[in-house]
Amino acid sequence: MSEHQRYYLTTPLYYVNSRPHIGHSYTNIACDALARHWRQRLGRDKVFFLTGTDEHGQKIARAAQAAGQEPQAFTDAISGTFRQLWTALNVDYDVFIRTTEERHKQAVRKVWTDLDAKGDIYSSSYQGYYCTPCETFLTEETVRQMTSEGREVTCPDCKRAAERIEETNYFFRMSKYQDWLVRALENGADEQGRPMVVLPETRRNEVLGFLKANKLEDLCVSRPKARLSWGIETPLSSEHVTYVWFDALVNYVSACGYGSDPVALERWWPADVHVIGKDILRHHAIYWTILLKALGLAPPRLIFAHGWWVVGGEKMSKSKGNVVDPVEIAAQYGVDAYRYFLLRETPFGQDGVFSQEALTLRFNTDLANDLGNLLNRSLTMCEKYFGGEVPAFEVSAKAAELKDLVDGLSGRVERAMERLAFHEALQAIWEPIGRANKYIEESAPWTLAKEGRTAELKTVIGALHEVLSATAKMLYPFMPATAEAVASQLGIERLEVVPYPVRWGSFAAGGRRIAKGAPLFPRIEDPDKPKTGDKKKAKSA
Ligand code: MSP
Repeated sequence: MSEHQRYYLTTPLYYVNSRPHIGHSYTNIACDALARHWRQRLGRDKVFFLTGTDEHGQKIARAAQAAGQEPQAFTDAISGTFRQLWTALNVDYDVFIRTTEERHKQAVRKVWTDLDAKGDIYSSSYQGYYCTPCETFLTEETVRQMTSEGREVTCPDCKRAAERIEETNYFFRMSKYQDWLVRALENGADEQGRPMVVLPETRRNEVLGFLKANKLEDLCVSRPKARLSWGIETPLSSEHVTYVWFDALVNYVSACGYGSDPVALERWWPADVHVIGKDILRHHAIYWTILLKALGLAPPRLIFAHGWWVVGGEKMSKSKGNVVDPVEIAAQYGVDAYRYFLLRETPFGQDGVFSQEALTLRFNTDLANDLGNLLNRSLTMCEKYFGGEVPAFEVSAKAAELKDLVDGLSGRVERAMERLAFHEALQAIWEPIGRANKYIEESAPWTLAKEGRTAELKTVIGALHEVLSATAKMLYPFMPATAEAVASQLGIERLEVVPYPVRWGSFAAGGRRIAKGAPLFPRIEDPDKPKTGDKKKAKSA
């Protein structure tokens, strides 16, 4: 349990230059599971889940132009598709911020004036190379190396050709904070002992390695309007707008009161976790932490960089035509099966391979066989032997094993979620499910019924009901609709009535009437062609 009793988590703000794909949905599904988990622990009003869209910059301006639209109309439309996607995927965020909102612009202007007052901003003319897709300047060192080798100057990240530019701009004195940052990253805390952790460890080492091998250059934080007008005008010059990253990062504080509501800021800042993809680690672990330090704000407690999904062994890209649409996948397999797959298949910090075969395998094995069958068999027996009324029962030695698993379950899931180890949390939830399926075989309720051993039969049916109630409760953050469907078949009106943390017997089942329904996850027989009827059922699960 965290000592500060509230949880603030953020996703990156998505660029609105193209439609969302599975990579974008990954972070938001993970954050949704995390937010729902913490709401179970702390209560809804103690959790703040922020997401949104990043709407300024060259890349967006060019995409709007290519679409023949004004940037604002263009960003309104694409920002809307992100919101729709989150609704479709059952992502229950608290605030959706757009960087074109007035309160955000106001916060960005305050950042400029505060840094200027501190002497951390200066203007200077700049000549160099710029990568528009990444919205980043190439370092002098990179350019020197490429030109000395007689190569074309390309972006070290995306490998596309960089553009040569020459202009007067404003710079943020990032270099002056380099030693501070190295120490803070090494200690996992700032000089005041406030935590500032980067996970996974390999990512932290990567940032430290970079900082030790390179001298940080000051960050160019403006763009001349002559070149780009789609941005937040700087309060220092009406000829310049704010560099898109310097604008976007500020969302993490503008959304919780920076520049507008000091009480809210005090309540929520620092963030408990910024969840990001590995490609934007440097922007967060270097630019953002230094900017906060310069502004006199606490560092984020944790920055977690997850891996990337690859398709057919390759990075997804429009040009390769291998971009996977989350809406299509969710329509085919069901929202919850999709959520489950993303969080169960690959440890959160590592890259994952997305394929329909792997998704089908998880669907058939974990969802249809393990969870679906357990529910189905348990309810069928409850109907057959007790007319659909869950019996009161005594715990036997065999059932005690299940009891121990249920009693330890919330703690195990909590420890996994504190490390964003979603796959481990799900493994922990599947343990009592697997054990309960074996328990059915071992205790052979059909024989108990035949032999009239009613007390033992009551134990089996009652114990299975306990396991399933606990499972539904713990599964809710990951697969909300499925958890509710399981609960409703168990005869539980609302999942909230099951107390958290789950405890065997704390939710007395005896006397409850079950309401067995259709199987939640009918097996997919041909991985290439899920049956239409199955799709619908799985979707409504
Ligand atoms: N706008 C910036 C972030 C600003 S945060 C203040 C941005 N946007 S993005 O739309 O390009 O990317 C958003 C996120 O999607 C990143 O975290 C990135 O890692 C993630 N992903 C993009 N493709 C991905 C995969 N194939 N797999 C997993 N995540 C991926 O960067």
